[in-house]
Amino acid sequence: MENLDLVQIRSEFPILNRKVCDKPLVYLDSAATSFTPQYVVDEIARVYSTCKANVHRGVHTLSQEATDLQEATRESVREFINAKSIQEIIFTRGTTEAINLVASSYGSLLENGEEIIVTEMEHHANIVPWQLLGHNKRIILRVVPVKKDGTLDMESYRSLFNERTKLVAICHVSNVLGTVNPVKEMIAEAHQYNVPVLVDGAQAVSHHKIDVQDLDADFYAFSAHKMYGPTGIGVLYGKRHLLKLMPPYQGGGEMIGTVSFKKTTYAELPFKFEAGTPDFVGIAAFKKAIEFMQRYGVERIAEHEKELLNYATEQMNTIPGMRIFGTAPQKSGVISFLIGNEHHYDMGMLLDKLGIEVRTGHHCAQPLMQALKIDGTVRASFAIYNTKEDVDAFISALRRVAAMLG
Ligand code: ALA
Repeated sequence: MENLDLVQIRSEFPILNRKVCDKPLVYLDSAATSFTPQYVVDEIARVYSTCKANVHRGVHTLSQEATDLQEATRESVREFINAKSIQEIIFTRGTTEAINLVASSYGSLLENGEEIIVTEMEHHANIVPWQLLGHNKRIILRVVPVKKDGTLDMESYRSLFNERTKLVAICHVSNVLGTVNPVKEMIAEAHQYNVPVLVDGAQAVSHHKIDVQDLDADFYAFSAHKMYGPTGIGVLYGKRHLLKLMPPYQGGGEMIGTVSFKKTTYAELPFKFEAGTPDFVGIAAFKKAIEFMQRYGVERIAEHEKELLNYATEQMNTIPGMRIFGTAPQKSGVISFLIGNEHHYDMGMLLDKLGIEVRTGHHCAQPLMQALKIDGTVRASFAIYNTKEDVDAFISALRRVAAMLG
């Protein structure tokens, strides 16, 4: 595969030129949010200054233009993940809201004593919404344990199914361990029991080619801000037949057919799940972010990130006391680590002083931290604009920090 032109790519992200603590910025926190190319930022300004009129609300020209932009993005998203129909693409505020939508709507169809399978490596966004269901009825979470290398215990997964299992909710890629879970296989297993599967794709969708039909996923959730796009936009993909039987999530404008005090009917998909004015400006700009990824190709981006991951891992392993969490053979561009017993916050703060931006803490995955018997890690993560020079700067800073902390 042809190498990416990193000089050209980096020139599209002016934010990379800024300094942190008077040092050149090395941004290794794209798993939290990725930077946004200037032309996506420019598109937000262009829509605000040329056609900021409410979508699906008017016959006037500006409203039509804004509506066309929003619906063009829906088609781009459909194509990007190979969904069958735009009716299966619902805009939300992010992955978290997409999962909450399913929990609230599909969850309302569950009955006392029914079970949902999740894994020990889930983000809180794929745990707490299911726990909230338990406020009204007894819903039992069954948890697949994580093995030492950061892969899932697949035998345990298979053993958790029974006649009360009503949903599997799993991440495609762990935001802490980087593990790429065998979701296609896990979905096939679940379907043998007629159990639908929700995949949290937040950490996968900009790093791996996603084909929801090939995966046979029932729901697939992700966020634009981790895909070089604007904040506050997410997508819930759902199979049409499931979305059709699910009740609305929120009530309001746009999601109705007719309203009266006697009886209200609901709009067709996808609008049944899109109450209120969406962030249509951000949605319009999201199309540009998808075009950005398509220009380089998700496979090429993934290969570049994998190279950086291997290069960084090799050098990190030469640092005395290095403990890397997550060594799965199928791993995405995320490295969580500690050095000896040093505190992750101390390391993160010292790295920041050297211009290196990493995430520290429990990464919204406290159950995983409990399983690993730690309270947090330092996490470095890669995106298209990172270079081997970034990794060199990171490793040299890590050595300095390790020496400072003794
Ligand atoms: N879920 C995002 C992360 O892992 C914010 O950093």
